Amino acid sequence: RREEISQHTLALQRAQDLYQQQLRKSPEAIAYLKKRGLTGEIAKQFGLGWASADRQALSTVFSPYSDPILVESGLVIQSDDGRRYDRFRERVMFPIRNTKGELVGFGGRIIGKGEPKYLNSPETPVFSKGQELYGLFEAKAAIRKEACIIVVEGYMDVVGLAQLGVGNAVATLGTATTPMHIQKLLRSSDRIIFSFDGDKAGRRAAWRALQTCLPLLRDDISIRFLFLPEEHDPDSYIRQFGAEAFRECIKESDALSTFFLNELADRFPLKEVEGRSRLVFEAKPLLAQIPQSAVKVQLHNELAKMVQLTPEELTNLLVSAPAMDD
Ligand code: CTP
Ligand code: MN
Ligand code: MN
Ligand code: MN
Ligand code: MN
Repeated sequence: RREEISQHTLALQRAQDLYQQQLRKSPEAIAYLKKRGLTGEIAKQFGLGWASADRQALSTVFSPYSDPILVESGLVIQSDDGRRYDRFRERVMFPIRNTKGELVGFGGRIIGKGEPKYLNSPETPVFSKGQELYGLFEAKAAIRKEACIIVVEGYMDVVGLAQLGVGNAVATLGTATTPMHIQKLLRSSDRIIFSFDGDKAGRRAAWRALQTCLPLLRDDISIRFLFLPEEHDPDSYIRQFGAEAFRECIKESDALSTFFLNELADRFPLKEVEGRSRLVFEAKPLLAQIPQSAVKVQLHNELAKMVQLTPEELTNLLVSAPAMDD
């Protein structure tokens, strides 16, 4: 197993060297990164590269090109008729490292028009999207210094924030936040701030992230949510308004409890008996997931206030009815 991993990471590293070398020789890719506000220094820090248009660019560094490791590691695609070609072409390459710093995959962004905007490595023995967090290895020192982790949606959010001095951001790779992600994050810091895109998709992702956090809540951790203006993501926001403004947003982020209560309150008409009852119905399975803790008791009490019940009345409603004997 260990040997398999090192075989994969060696192949990926060899491709990475080529992508980095190709970036230095591509004026259009360099111009693209510059246009997005990135310096050569930050590009180097994140190991950014460029996959050229050549359909078999990797054949210059791998011989034979038919080595099965190329397909297994997701670098090369084999079509049904047996022909092979590089997965990543004409894309800015973002190397993805695990927490040990080993290369496990890539994300590639198209710089012109075309679909998909981002292409990622497939699931391989060393790469699983639901487990990896982009930038976690690179952010280690900053996470320690800031004593907190910012979780964003995209590669460019991580790199764009780092460019302007906010180095403690990591990204879920276009997937929903998984319990594994949260566990990994909590191993690095006891303070997590989710800062997804300000659009509807971002808000939905935040609510899903909150739900994923519930079974892992404890009184000694802090989880907060930062909601940016509708049209922004962390990268565009910090580029337009600067690092000071972004740090101000972090200070004003919502506690998990605030987001939880506000979101529920927004969904149902609290002026009506039925609205308040529906809220209890919806909140029940959510509360049930939270381990016994001070935060759980207080959420319970706040919820009771919101639906005009006493905490005891709410407790009685939340205990599931005993199963009937037949
Ligand atoms: N993503 C993906 N595949 C896509 C689109 C998005 O894997 N076709 C993932 C990428 O990890 C991307 C993240 O979802 O970084 C967020 O997507 P989006 O907000 O659309 O992209 P940005 O990160 O804002 O990219 P950019 O600023 O370069 O447009
Ligand atoms: Mn988005
Ligand atoms: Mn977007
Ligand atoms: Mn963006
Ligand atoms: Mn975005």
